[in-house]
Amino acid sequence: MCGIVGFVGKQQAAPILLDGLSRLEYRGYDSAGVAVVSPDGGIDVQKSKGRLQVLSDLIHGGEDMKGCIGIGHTRWATHGAPSDVNSHPHLSEGGKFAVIHNGIIENYVEIKEFLIHQGVHFRSETDSEVVAQLLEFYYNECHDFLEAVGRVLRRIEGAYALGMLCADCPDRIIAARKDAPLLLGYGDGEYFIASDVTAIIKHTREVAYMEDGEIAILTTDGIVVEDALQQPVEKQRHHIDWEVSAAEKGGYPHFMLKEIFEQPEALRRAISPRLKDGRVTLDDMKLSAEQIRNFSRIFIVACGSSYHVGMVGKYNLEHLMRRSVEVCLASEFRYSDPIIDDHTLVIVISQSGETLDTMAALREAKARGAYILSIVNVVGSSIARESDDVLYTWAGPEIAVATTKAYSTQLAVLDMIGLAFGEALGTVDSAEYDAAVEGLQKLPEQLEEVLANCADIQKFASEHFNHNSIFFIGRNLDYALGLEGSLKLKEISYIHSEAYASGELKHGTISLIEDGTLVVALGTYGRLFDKAMSNVVEVKARGADVLALTTDAHRAEMEKTVPNVLSIPNTVDMLLPSLGVVPLQLFSYYVALQRGCDIDKPRNLAKSVTVE
Ligand code: M6R
Repeated sequence: MCGIVGFVGKQQAAPILLDGLSRLEYRGYDSAGVAVVSPDGGIDVQKSKGRLQVLSDLIHGGEDMKGCIGIGHTRWATHGAPSDVNSHPHLSEGGKFAVIHNGIIENYVEIKEFLIHQGVHFRSETDSEVVAQLLEFYYNECHDFLEAVGRVLRRIEGAYALGMLCADCPDRIIAARKDAPLLLGYGDGEYFIASDVTAIIKHTREVAYMEDGEIAILTTDGIVVEDALQQPVEKQRHHIDWEVSAAEKGGYPHFMLKEIFEQPEALRRAISPRLKDGRVTLDDMKLSAEQIRNFSRIFIVACGSSYHVGMVGKYNLEHLMRRSVEVCLASEFRYSDPIIDDHTLVIVISQSGETLDTMAALREAKARGAYILSIVNVVGSSIARESDDVLYTWAGPEIAVATTKAYSTQLAVLDMIGLAFGEALGTVDSAEYDAAVEGLQKLPEQLEEVLANCADIQKFASEHFNHNSIFFIGRNLDYALGLEGSLKLKEISYIHSEAYASGELKHGTISLIEDGTLVVALGTYGRLFDKAMSNVVEVKARGADVLALTTDAHRAEMEKTVPNVLSIPNTVDMLLPSLGVVPLQLFSYYVALQRGCDIDKPRNLAKSVTVE
């Protein structure tokens, strides 16, 4: 999704803006641009379609653009195709205002018609340009930058994070936010806006998150923030404690591979502080045992891979808690008129904490009285701030679009919720509880073992990267795991892939299996191993080429039927997907590598989906 960075200080702004934008590249974009208040007066805007490097070459790494105050943007096209003219920043017709915008201005058509009627000429097809033109229109009436911003914000509808420059007020950036992430950075005599902390971490670790309705005015004297009623707001600052290197590749060819290999460490951070004296201790959760016992309905709501975590979680939580758990896609849940009351718990899962559909679902659930417990990676993100309770995953910054370590840590946290709730409800068997805690303790180490054996996966991928279609089959936890394996493969390798519950094959899907079809058969769940085997036999009989994943305990048995078998160490049932997902991540990675795909930035995808 679009990225925003803005700088006010004493250094030349453009190189800093380009560097910030380069750190936002992972979010996905199709064009980029910068605007700088020029020392000679006026606003200098440079932008271009394509990679940031194109823009950087155009302005010689920013050297060509003089001026110490500026804004930069990477665009992920929604309204209007990727093109130079549709790129941000948008300049108003008279050249007085430059605007960068993340989000969608829902009533832009009506505003555009109004302005055209007033004689304004538009250059782009975007919704965002109306902000620049409307600013100039109101400014021509009131001759006050801040007042014009206020009038614009009262007129526009939709979601926005805005960075705005005015040629008549060359000492400042004005920023505003509603339903799109925007943070403020406090440096030494220099100040920043950014959609994501990675853009500015090189310059400052002191940040504050803007809230909906707030307006920030940045000058070299500092940042002044006002709420929607123009009252001053004292922002709470947060210290970002991860290292810049965490957002760099550190010798790996891709962020995705680096993040796959970071999983043992990420899991240690997510699990260790929450296990004390053999018990799951969620000190960072506010919910009491009594509140837990009072919930009569439980939902898990998320998108994409986070939803797949919920799919695994459903099996585990229902088993541990003996309560029914409904897993919902956030984009469906928000419009489904969900049955919620004040005895409802909604567990919201999101790596970024900014996914718009998930955020909207959270608000819908909250408005209907639900208690919101979220599992989030990005500290201080919108979802984290609007939840009643947050359990952070502590996975560290995840840059690759395809999530890996966030998935693993979300799953571990959800499993710990299941165990803690099961204990509070008295529904979990004590031997099973102890075994699960032991399994969680061993999980990072076992994952290291899986990662050490990645050569087999690489070899298999190098022999099977040319398929047009790949199926993942499994039952129960293996089915939920297959959903994630299939998504990972399709998003980075562009191979068509589906995951099916093996029992469903005979009800239709098996007609797709023919000579040479690749089927990834997941058979880690020991209780259903025999059934998994019979599905393997079925697809093999129809000519499928099978790659099987099972546990060390069942490897020999599987090898009797399938020549290509991967195995994971034995563990308790509930943790099988936590280990099983790693070979599937690696398989996708190596297939995509063989196919020459842009692994960290797959086509059409964005890291954080902040539009509907
Ligand atoms: O940041 P979130 O966890 O809310 O993101 C949800 C999905 O957009 C995300 O998991 C997406 O499916 C990933 N690209 C999958 O790798």
